[in-house]
Amino acid sequence: MVAATDKPVVAILTIDDELQLFRGNRKNFADLIQTGQQLGITTYVVTVKNLKLNSARVLGYTYLPADEAWIETSLPRPNIVYNRIPQREDERLPHVKRKLEAIARHPSIHLFNRRFFNKWSLFRWLKMSTPTKNNIPETRKLTQLSVLALLLKKHRLLYLKPVRGKAGVGIMTVKVQPEKHLPYRLQIQEEKGSTTYHCTSLQRLWEKVRKLSSANGEPYIAQQGITLATVNNRPFDLRALVQKNELGKWEMTGLGARVAGSTSITTHVPRGGYIDEPERLLLSNFGQEKTNIVLSKVRISAIAFAKQIERSAKTELCEMSMDLGIDTTGHLWFFEANSKPMKFDEPHIRSKSLERIFQYSLYVHRRRMHSQGGAAR
Ligand SMILES: Nc1ncnc2c1ncn2[C@@H]1O[C@H](COP(=O)(O)OP(=O)(O)O)[C@@H](O)[C@H]1O
Ligand SMILES: [Mg+2]
Repeated sequence: MVAATDKPVVAILTIDDELQLFRGNRKNFADLIQTGQQLGITTYVVTVKNLKLNSARVLGYTYLPADEAWIETSLPRPNIVYNRIPQREDERLPHVKRKLEAIARHPSIHLFNRRFFNKWSLFRWLKMSTPTKNNIPETRKLTQLSVLALLLKKHRLLYLKPVRGKAGVGIMTVKVQPEKHLPYRLQIQEEKGSTTYHCTSLQRLWEKVRKLSSANGEPYIAQQGITLATVNNRPFDLRALVQKNELGKWEMTGLGARVAGSTSITTHVPRGGYIDEPERLLLSNFGQEKTNIVLSKVRISAIAFAKQIERSAKTELCEMSMDLGIDTTGHLWFFEANSKPMKFDEPHIRSKSLERIFQYSLYVHRRRMHSQGGAAR
């Protein structure tokens, strides 16, 4: 049994908003506060502006489910700050950067989710480690024509992705069809729908890619395209949620699957994709025995990816979600990891994911109290 004073105060950090007090997924925040309360842990939302690191009390927001209302109130300064600033652009603002640095340096505050990941760094990091490198598609920075030429010699399908991309916007695929009059087929996914171009030569393809990617304003990576396993002709991929548990060890909280929309090049649900059961999808492709092997490989690899990402990021992490592909032969591929996982809609994963954040918070808090000889603040 843990005494009340042994419990941390957890603040969910987000950015201020002039009209609606703060930004971010309010349903997620309300669920977090409720889970914290059930475990007897004071939990509230705090904005970058209101988190004053030198005062004992700060202005935060709690949620009253009965009134469906957010209440502004004075609360004790947190021991744990759970960063849920929703947008990359916000995290790049100088005053936000400074605040995050100050929180990370603060002697009695532990910061969860220091920053967003960048796709290029993830691939560099995972390529460096033996247990993960065989599951990483060949990836290069898309800086010049020769990069496309080199990759297209080896792979007939490429994915081109903005390094700080999200929800599939700006992702392109290049398919080589040598037998065709216009052998390079380029497809780009936009905010709404997608557009396809056919190019006569590599030079033309490069010009088009350059134009489209610069419109996006982000550097791109070019990646070996994986021929994903399918169900009813639609590719699917797996979403793993990996979090630290009550012992401070990485564990896979849950595994979901996303099946692509009929015309989409990605599996995102807002693009016509839908949620399904990983085991069911794998069984229809591989049968029971191989499905078991694939699932255990996923579990082991997800932990190996998380460990290697944490080691390379040089900061203690608490959770991440991962997009993983299974190709038609049953081989596992890593596509990306997100440092601020979106809500999983599968109810069993959702409830466990909320609890784990607090179980790990308790672990971190106890560890700190222990190392400070019992003084939490
Ligand atoms: N190299 C690839 N081969 C095959 N499919 C891919 C590849 N890269 C991405 N995809 C598909 O596109 C989806 C989105 O890619 P991802 O890297 O997760 O970008 P985003 O940040 O936009 O979610 C993946 O979940 C997967 O379905
Ligand atoms: Mg993704």
